[in-house]
Amino acid sequence: MIFDILTLFPEVCEAYCQASILGRAAKAGLINVRTVNIRDYAQDRHRTVDDVPYGGGDGMVMMAPPLARAIEDLQPQPPARVILMSPQGPPLDQDKVRELARWPRLALVCGRYEGVDERVRERYVHEELSLGDFVLSGGELAALCVVDAVSRLVPGVLHGADSAEADSFMDGLLEHPHYTRPPLFEGVAVPEVLLSGNHAAIARWRRKESLRRTFLRRPDLLARASLSREDLLLLEEVRGEEASGEGA
Ligand SMILES: C[S@@+](CC[C@H](N)C(=O)[O-])C[C@H]1O[C@@H](n2cnc3c(N)ncnc32)[C@H](O)[C@@H]1O
Repeated sequence: MIFDILTLFPEVCEAYCQASILGRAAKAGLINVRTVNIRDYAQDRHRTVDDVPYGGGDGMVMMAPPLARAIEDLQPQPPARVILMSPQGPPLDQDKVRELARWPRLALVCGRYEGVDERVRERYVHEELSLGDFVLSGGELAALCVVDAVSRLVPGVLHGADSAEADSFMDGLLEHPHYTRPPLFEGVAVPEVLLSGNHAAIARWRRKESLRRTFLRRPDLLARASLSREDLLLLEEVRGEEASGEGA
């Protein structure tokens, strides 16, 4: 999987991608994260990439020519999918991440200042993506979120075949809670079933707690999730426990 991040701050992106899971995945050749400094495509001696907005007003706008040249120069041509990070795009979610993971190559364009000249969006961008309804100073964090979330779905990046499958949202639910040593922390014990060694009972407990979390925190997800007959029975138990105040 190849990611091209087009940015004015490549060093920010490189540092994140060299660490931990992404760094290991890159070393193993499972992903290739390349950064393109948009400023390298400026054509004056000051390496100018922004200019004042037509019509006046505060702030600067990223000029079309350097950005267009940077996108056109991506190799091999044409780039698989050009995505503009933008607060005006639809918000990123796990369904979108799964969809993006099917492309062999993504080009992620990071805006700065007031954003990019509209003609770049019209001519070069296949889609826009937002991290949510708030405004960041630049698209780098958003692009890194895409790289990170998509990479987790690239086969071999996560250790243990099931790690990504069990994550929140993968089956439409929030994941169950996790515990590790010590067994007793500040008077709170790990749920006994997790120490039992009974794999069927542990799986049932995890599924039920996943349903409970989703029911309590994100009922909107539950309405869309495809639930088995057993899930529905567990959910009934959860509803009863929560109504009677016996919930975990
Ligand atoms: C300061 S913002 C520009 C915001 C723009 N003036 C607006 O109001 O829509 C600069 C850049 O940060 C990035 N950005 C800001 N918020 C974002 C978000 N929620 N999701 C993705 N990218 C974002 C975009 O690349 C944007 O071009």
